[in-house]
Formats: sequence, structure tokens, C-alpha cells
Amino acid sequence: MRRVRIGDLVIGEDEKKAVNDVLESGRLSEGLKVKQFEALWSEYIGTDYCVAVNSGTSALLVGLSALLADERFPKIKKGAKIITSPVTYVATTNAIVLLGMEPVYVDIDPATFSLDVNQIADLLKTDDPDEYAAILPVHLMGYPNDMDAINFLAEKYDLIVFEDAAQAHGSLYKGKKVGSLSLLADYSFYIAHNIQVGEMGAVVTSDAKIGQLMKRIKANGRTCACTVCLRSEGRCPYRNAPFDPRFTHEYIGFNFKTTEFQAALAIPQIKKAEAIIKARQENVAFLNEKLQCYADIFQLPFYSQDVSYLAYPIVIKNNAINRKELMQSLEQHGVETRPLFGCIPTQQPAYSYLQQQYAKKLPTADYVGSSGFYLGCHQYLSREDLEYISQAFRLVREMV
Ligand SMILES: Cc1ncc(COP(=O)(O)O)c(C=O)c1O
Repeated sequence: MRRVRIGDLVIGEDEKKAVNDVLESGRLSEGLKVKQFEALWSEYIGTDYCVAVNSGTSALLVGLSALLADERFPKIKKGAKIITSPVTYVATTNAIVLLGMEPVYVDIDPATFSLDVNQIADLLKTDDPDEYAAILPVHLMGYPNDMDAINFLAEKYDLIVFEDAAQAHGSLYKGKKVGSLSLLADYSFYIAHNIQVGEMGAVVTSDAKIGQLMKRIKANGRTCACTVCLRSEGRCPYRNAPFDPRFTHEYIGFNFKTTEFQAALAIPQIKKAEAIIKARQENVAFLNEKLQCYADIFQLPFYSQDVSYLAYPIVIKNNAINRKELMQSLEQHGVETRPLFGCIPTQQPAYSYLQQQYAKKLPTADYVGSSGFYLGCHQYLSREDLEYISQAFRLVREMV
């Protein structure tokens, strides 16, 4: 039986050579490859700086920690409220909560899963806006949020905007890449993402101070902020200081450093990013055409050439089919699926303490979180794979 997976990994000659170069260089911890990755990714997104870390979760944590450490942002502090999406991978909320801040959820747009900006406006009008420090929109499945409206509200109420672009490598909003539309943005390069290296993340910003803070905080808060140590060349910026910057810690931080292997795998993929995005868009368009006959049962993904698709999201309409049974049947036919992320305050056990507070307040998020799922649309799918998916969907008619 054919198996059509959510994501695949084909290690090409370029990637093999890059990993081999690392092995031969004798340096595994962060060095020239990480530096090159950071330069390429910030250039690709259109920001001045990029800081590589070991996961997208770490990227969220280091970005938020830098904001907490930066005295320019006094509203970012323990207990501050951050407006974010209830439908996201749980890492977004975990990072906020782990750093002692409070996620505040608004509902989402059903077609693009992006934040409902009217609800943000209402919230800031009715609540005390001084308690709010930031908006953290998630560009879920690659769909950009309405960044003009979000930035307008942020300016009006003195809020930071931090984009979670983990799932939106190269998506465009009004001609600009998401991730370049706010103060800072995180990415994940976990498997099945458009650019995938196993485990790695990054934060981009055009703010030099935040960039420097993140470099320090990701390395246990040490004074050094060079990706590649210049000490042996006698070019350390602290060469005349009476302390060793590697073991002097200005901030309380983490070890979120990545390795040369991860960066080496990412570099050749960044160079192919546009081809990867295009292939995924074509697969989404193809599947949309093939599955259009089920439009009475499913909300198929909204198509746009501005979207860099993470996957192929489907929402079951009006509870027409039981999601679990459908996903099981597709899996039995070799088509891998994943549930769209359950609404965090009402459907995730770790956040059950928020259930009552949000009961019936997030109807779209609740519905998408219980009736949405996704299939792969990755660049390695062949026409036969896509045809196979559409054939597998025939079982749907027997289930309604
Ligand atoms: C929206 C979002 N944010 C954050 C993350 C965390 O990334 P990672 O799994 O690399 O830690 C993910 C992971 O896919 C994600 O989808």
C-alpha cells in the first residue's frame, strides 16, 4: 500500500556535502555554518538580524526573554497579558506561561485561522489596555494574519508585536515576508516544515539590541555575543577587559544553541525555498480541484499564491463526519493525517484551569480545534500520491 506522509525528507547531494563538510571541519558546535545560516535567513525574510536556536519553542522563549530583559519595554513583565491565538501548536502558549506572563485568547477567522482583529480591538476597548504588553499572532499553516490591523492596534495601545511565523516560511503579506512585519518573529525548522532540519529554530528582528540580547540569553546570558568566537584571532571585543566574557553572565539565560549540522542542512534548502513554496502551492491547488466535490462536507484550504503552505488543512463542516473515524480510515488507506491544534484554553489538559473562563467564548477556535485536520502537501509528493489521496477520499461518502 502506498503511504502518503505529512512530511518527507530527501537528503540531496547538496545537503550530504554540507553535513560532510561539518564532519571534516572538526567543529560541531555553533560556528561558520550557523553564522552563514543566520545571514541567509535574515536576508531571505528581510530583517537585519537572525539568531539561530535549537527549536522553535526556544525561539519563542528567547525572544520573549529578550523583551523581558530590555528596559525599553516596561510593559513586558511578569503577569503582563499577551494576546495570542488559541489554535496553535502548544509551544506558543507554553513560552508565554513559562515566562510568567498571561496568554489572552481571542477567536480566529475560520478560513485563515488568523486572529480576529475586531475582537482584539473590543478587548482593548473594554479591558484596561495598560495590562496588555504584546500581541503574538500565529501565521498558522502559512496563512498571514492581518498585520496592518494588528500593527495599528499595537501602536494605538503601545503593544509589542511578536509574530509566530514557525509555520510560515516565506509567506507574503502585501508583498513582504511575514516575520519582517513586527519587532521580532520566531521560526521552527522541525520536520515537515518547508525548510526542515530535524530540530532548529530562529528569531529574526531588525532591532540590534534585541538581536544582541537574544545571542546572550540563548547562551546562558553570557557577555559574549559573537556567533563565531574571535578570541584565538585576537579580535575578541572584550580582549582588554579584566574578565572572561565567556564566563561572565549578564543575564539569566538558557542553553538554546544549535549545531553546525542543523545549519548545514538548512543552508541548501533556503536556496531552494521559492521552489519548495511553489511546489506546495501547486499541490494545494491540485488537491483543491480534486476534492472540490466534497465541498458540502469540508472546508478546503483557502488558496493564495502569497501563502507558503505548511500542510493541507481541512475543516469538517457542521460535524458532518466524526473526525477521529475519518482520520483513522484515511490512515488505514495510507494517508497520514494530524488533527489541527485543539483550542488551547478549552481542549488542552495542561490548560484545563482556563476552561471555564473561556467556555463558549471562542466558538470558531473550539470548532476548528475539534473538527480540523491536515494532510501533507509537501514538495516530495508526486502526481500519483496526490491522485491517491483523492481516491482515498472516496470513503468519505460512505461515512456521512
Ligand atoms: C506555531 C508554532 N509555534 C512554535 C512551534 C515550536 O517549534 P518547535 O517544534 O521547533 O519547538 C511550532 C512547531 O511546529 C509551531 O507550529
